[in-house]
Amino acid sequence: MPIMNQNDTTARIAHVFRGTFVHSTPRVAVEILQDCILGVDDEGKIAFIEKDQDVASLSKTWGFKTSDIKQLGQYEFLMPGMVDTHIHASQYSYSGTALDLPLLEWLNTYTFPVEAKYKDLDFAKDVYSKVVRRTLKNGTTAACYFATIHTDASLLLGELADKFGQRALVGKVCMDCNSAVPQYKESRSECKEETDRFIKELLKKEYPNVKPVITPRFAPSCSSSLLSELGEIANNNKLHIQSHISENKEEVELVKTLFPGCKSYTDVYLKHNLLTDRTVMAHGCYLTDEELEIFHETGSAISHCPNSNISICSGMLNVRNVLNHKVKLGLGTDVAGGYSPSMLDAIRRTLDTSKALTIQDPQHETLSFEEVFRLATLGGSEALSLDDQIGNFVVGKDFDALRVNVCVPDGPIDLFPGEGPKVILEKFLNLGDDRNITEVYVAGRQVVPLQDT
Ligand code: GUN
Ligand code: FE
Repeated sequence: MPIMNQNDTTARIAHVFRGTFVHSTPRVAVEILQDCILGVDDEGKIAFIEKDQDVASLSKTWGFKTSDIKQLGQYEFLMPGMVDTHIHASQYSYSGTALDLPLLEWLNTYTFPVEAKYKDLDFAKDVYSKVVRRTLKNGTTAACYFATIHTDASLLLGELADKFGQRALVGKVCMDCNSAVPQYKESRSECKEETDRFIKELLKKEYPNVKPVITPRFAPSCSSSLLSELGEIANNNKLHIQSHISENKEEVELVKTLFPGCKSYTDVYLKHNLLTDRTVMAHGCYLTDEELEIFHETGSAISHCPNSNISICSGMLNVRNVLNHKVKLGLGTDVAGGYSPSMLDAIRRTLDTSKALTIQDPQHETLSFEEVFRLATLGGSEALSLDDQIGNFVVGKDFDALRVNVCVPDGPIDLFPGEGPKVILEKFLNLGDDRNITEVYVAGRQVVPLQDT
């Protein structure tokens, strides 16, 4: 039924939820809104979120039937969808294996031979369908993906994200140097031409929530001229940029020898116009304070990938120091350097790493679970420069949300008397899994339970 909202424009209410809502704001890491009612319009945007004292008058104002309200149970809440700011869709096939070598050997031994297989679109379709479905089920409503050097397979990843309803930035990987696998690299001109084709074809599809991201693999894989060309393409088209930076010590040393004219690893990307307010760089374990200042000044973000950092023995990022420099930071799974595709795992590993830093230095201020919850949701949206659209429950933003039930039959969580919503949230973050994520919404569309095809 069409109704007039406060702005006198016609809107239809598609969903109304009533119960407990948990989210973050820039000021409060965890805000718990109890006895509230939230409406989503038919464009997938949050139309209202209010105290539920006067449901009858809300239903009249917004034109919904009270019988259509989805009532959340005592052990249920809605939270914003989680944002995976760094994941290699193409590496999902071997996630959970091959974690016994450091980065540079790991790339040549395991990663490049697997990524070379994405010339085969049937193989790509199988893995990409599985990674999109698995991450959606685990509550990743938005993902910033690396695909491979293959344009058609990368376009297929975009098509599948759209089909299953995940918000995604999709990157066709660019690399013209230093691959030990002869069948897995491109010439500089191929990189440029194929990146142009990738952007053009993906934008032509007009998927509402899937966009291209310019993706130089990392400085050691790219010639200076390729980096410059990619910087130019990104800036001319106002596109997102993603890459890796300062993940492991050997890599940092290699970059010094490959780019002797640059003051630091950060300077390499700065000089090639790749640090913008739409840039997200994975890892950053060894960035100096001076480099973090450049991140702050340019508005570039860091994706913290703690599972990967520990699994392939890269390092431990001091997130507190990054936040003190007012650098945007989100969490990433970095599948398959990180073995888990779940953002709940990224939350736990972030807390573990922060605690390990406190063990090393008792002066270190450990991150709280509330802060890490914010990093997984609002922080991720900021890191991807999507915080005007997603990240928390604010009227006008897209409704990207998880319905969480901590008390599912045969679930992983036991509850005890007197546990309030904050304890329930903490238990979910530390003990929960996909069984507790009963519904997932992206831009108002329900995408979990998954469709079968
Ligand atoms: N640096 C360059 N490529 C990669 C990659 O695929 N994974 C990780 N973890 N680091 C990288
Ligand atoms: Fe990575």
